[in-house]
Amino acid sequence: MPKSELEVSRRRLLAAGTATAMIGVVPGAPAQSQAASQKAPQAAVSFEVNGKPSSLQLDTRTTLLDALREHLRLTGTKKGCDQGQCGACTVIVNGVRINSCLTLAVMHEGDRITTIEGLGQPERLHPMQAAFVKHDGYQCGYCTPGQICSAVAVLDEIKSGIPSHVSGDLTVSPELTNTELRERMSGNICRCGAYSNIAEAIAEVAGSST
Ligand code: FES
Ligand code: FES
Repeated sequence: MPKSELEVSRRRLLAAGTATAMIGVVPGAPAQSQAASQKAPQAAVSFEVNGKPSSLQLDTRTTLLDALREHLRLTGTKKGCDQGQCGACTVIVNGVRINSCLTLAVMHEGDRITTIEGLGQPERLHPMQAAFVKHDGYQCGYCTPGQICSAVAVLDEIKSGIPSHVSGDLTVSPELTNTELRERMSGNICRCGAYSNIAEAIAEVAGSST
């Protein structure tokens, strides 16, 4: 092919490519701006966090975990898997431990929420926090806030006589055996493998020798 014809073909090819690209962009533009202009639904929620009243205006899709971390700056509660599998996000709501990544903040109107910051402070540790320090119940520490909140709630569960999957006799109050403890704490994963030290810490606070 002579050089001039080659040049013409090249120009046509470039022009066709540009036109195709514009076809792709132009129809998409209104859809994008439409999506941006659709405001996410908002709702007000009020609850008590670590003894203090808190009112937030939130996108209704905000999880309790994100409300605590991103809106209230309580970053002690950790986000591990964000899908209910690791327990790093465990907090205590109305005395019961829950995975805060699996619940929407707006579902907690009027609730009493306790995070690791509400259990104790460096100068005034909760007995469970002190026991974790004493028994080296952590390595990287990422799972630790969730482990401690869970452990505090586990002791309350046992005191209240709530059975677990491994309780042998449902007619008597469960005891804090090693099997009971490990079953009840099984939703809190520690990738550093500090399990035996964690168990020792919880046992000390419980006054048992699991
Ligand atoms: Fe909630 Fe893992 S972050 S269970
Ligand atoms: Fe590192 Fe538990 S201390 S994950």
